[in-house]
Amino acid sequence: MARRPLIAGNWKMNGLKADGLALAEGIAAKLKAAPPPADLLVCPPATLIDALCRAVAGSGLAVGGQDCHAANSGAHTGDIAAPMLKDLGASHVIVGHSERRTDHRETNAQVQAKATAAHAAGLVAIICIGETEAERDAGRTLAVVGEQFDGSLPAGATADNTVIAYEPVWAIGTGRTPTTPEVVEVHAAIRALAGKRLGAAGADRLRILYGGSMKPSNAKELLALADVDGGLIGGASLKVEDFWAIAQSCP
Ligand code: PGA
Repeated sequence: MARRPLIAGNWKMNGLKADGLALAEGIAAKLKAAPPPADLLVCPPATLIDALCRAVAGSGLAVGGQDCHAANSGAHTGDIAAPMLKDLGASHVIVGHSERRTDHRETNAQVQAKATAAHAAGLVAIICIGETEAERDAGRTLAVVGEQFDGSLPAGATADNTVIAYEPVWAIGTGRTPTTPEVVEVHAAIRALAGKRLGAAGADRLRILYGGSMKPSNAKELLALADVDGGLIGGASLKVEDFWAIAQSCP
């Protein structure tokens, strides 16, 4: 079936109020003028979610968080709960990004708990998985991605409340990308795994994004691949023109 692509911007720890608002408003203006063949989402730092949700309301541009805690409230200094993101108007949250898995030593079990919390709050969880360069060199890519998928996907996941982002760790922010056959191989493997968890119809509807150095110059080729249903964009999501060019590259 035809899955509607999702182009999601992961701003990471970038953006003060003025530039974040200008970026989101720039994208929203283009979206209103000429909707691309994709759903568009920006995931700014948590500090900007409230302002952005207000600024882009009604434009069709969705706003999401970059992480959430597994608990709904409590003694977790500095953390943000999924219901808090929802309360501000967020519709999505990224969980298990490789930078969280590395910087904060998040495990599959923790990512799974976060995704469960996201679902309970009514958010779509974008669950990130992907191998390191050493794992790819050792021929372990499919094994690692499979372990992460099985360990991070919560019970209750559906094609409506979950998006998978395949992000090879070595491709993030490096300008390097896997070859197209490599991307196709991993995405097909993820869809096969999804079939076991979501059933054939659910797996067919599940959106599987590619992330890692996607930019205007390679987006068309990547987004045309079988089983690639959009992108999770880091660096290139910080410029209106680049993010827009990627959105317009969707088949
Ligand atoms: P990048 O980041 O596009 O800058 O490689 C992608 C990501 O980390 O989600």
